[in-house]
Amino acid sequence: MRRGAWSNRYAFYLATVGSAFSLGNLWRFPYVVDSNGGGAFVVTYILLCFIIGMPIVVGELMLGKLSRLSIISATDQISQQSAHAWVRKWKPWKWVGVSANLASIFLLSFYSVICGWVLFFLVQYLVHMFTGIPLADDLFNILMKNGWLQVGLMSVHLLITTIVVSRGLKQGIERLSTLIMPLFMALMIYLVFKSLSLPGTVDAMRFLFYPNFSYFTSETLLKVLGHVFFTLSVGMGAMVVFGSYLRDDTYVPRSGFKVTILDITISIFSGFLIFPIVFSANINGDYGPSLIFNTLSVFFNKMGLGNFFGLIFFICLYLAALGASIMLLETSVAHLIDSKRFKRNRASWSMIVFVFIAALPASLSSTVFKDMKFMDLSMLRLYDKVLVDYLLPVVCLGISLLVGFGLTKKQKENLFIREDEMDSENLYRNWHFLVRWLVPAVIILGFFSSIFY
Ligand code: PFF
Repeated sequence: MRRGAWSNRYAFYLATVGSAFSLGNLWRFPYVVDSNGGGAFVVTYILLCFIIGMPIVVGELMLGKLSRLSIISATDQISQQSAHAWVRKWKPWKWVGVSANLASIFLLSFYSVICGWVLFFLVQYLVHMFTGIPLADDLFNILMKNGWLQVGLMSVHLLITTIVVSRGLKQGIERLSTLIMPLFMALMIYLVFKSLSLPGTVDAMRFLFYPNFSYFTSETLLKVLGHVFFTLSVGMGAMVVFGSYLRDDTYVPRSGFKVTILDITISIFSGFLIFPIVFSANINGDYGPSLIFNTLSVFFNKMGLGNFFGLIFFICLYLAALGASIMLLETSVAHLIDSKRFKRNRASWSMIVFVFIAALPASLSSTVFKDMKFMDLSMLRLYDKVLVDYLLPVVCLGISLLVGFGLTKKQKENLFIREDEMDSENLYRNWHFLVRWLVPAVIILGFFSSIFY
């Protein structure tokens, strides 16, 4: 099937980075760094983004570009065309695609709860524009005590997402990303600049970059891997869909490299923004998922025109999260359109019913399901753990094997080796080694150490 293509390269980067740059960088990165001891996590994260995450980003884009299909059909088609008999005969490939789609639905369900929180703060900054904004702790209490408010906010978010997706990918994503990304970047630079002038900056930098590996437990490797996959949007079929819309002349390795670099930069920026505030205002304790909400409100409260900047920040954060949600829904909608011949409208609305049902327990995890805990985790944190620490690494293991062994040498070389690209043969050899051997080995090591130690 022939697909539409991005109208220009800029639109592709904005949309891809727009979906990668979102709650994972701004909301999740600071709190997982905080609860995993800082520097050791950050340094490992940066390293693994390059040697594990980037090869998979490139691999997923390739799968999409070669098949012009969404992930389930792409894994099916590619495995059948493989030169290796064991790849053609191995049945579970289909499950790699199915699990990736499940992961995107699952992620959207708890993502939409957090989007609801962002929406709540956005509205608070709007209505308290000219008065003092209540303390973040109080606002959080209101949210945590009112599960149905969270359900309402989550539903509003899902409704907006579905309306955008049912109107079509190009109009939806391109327009949105082109609009918000540059504005958000500029705002972040300004806020980071302000935050770095706080007295806690030196301590924050030490915390962020001094690698104290005594905080590393047997589970940390898997946690870092999961976070790398989460922020780079791999393991959910999203990059396959992006790849399927790439123009024929796009050089995939460069796209993968740029997406990775930008994504890391934005995460580090969000560390620069949050941790000087944490250390200057002595914000102690395990805030977990509420960390950015607590720190940022302290910051905005003290800053000149703080309410105004707070409002703009939460609008941008909400739009970035909406862009990501659109992409998450699009991955499963693309599958229904490709292989089940659904109309876009019907596909979008039927998918969202599942997402809504899955999101209910997560929205009610601090009220109705308060006492329902597994491994001492609330439903919301359990969703996060199952998805990020287990499901994404499993799917990425499958994808790296499919790309490493399933794609033929010719298919890979055609996409990689170009006369007009410097050193592309060398680049190809390195990437191939990583995706075929190192990525699977590190993921298996992550599982091994978390299970057996
Ligand atoms: N990478 C996004 C984040 O960091 O928040 C999460 C994500 C968005 C994953 C969109 C997949 C996707 F399709």
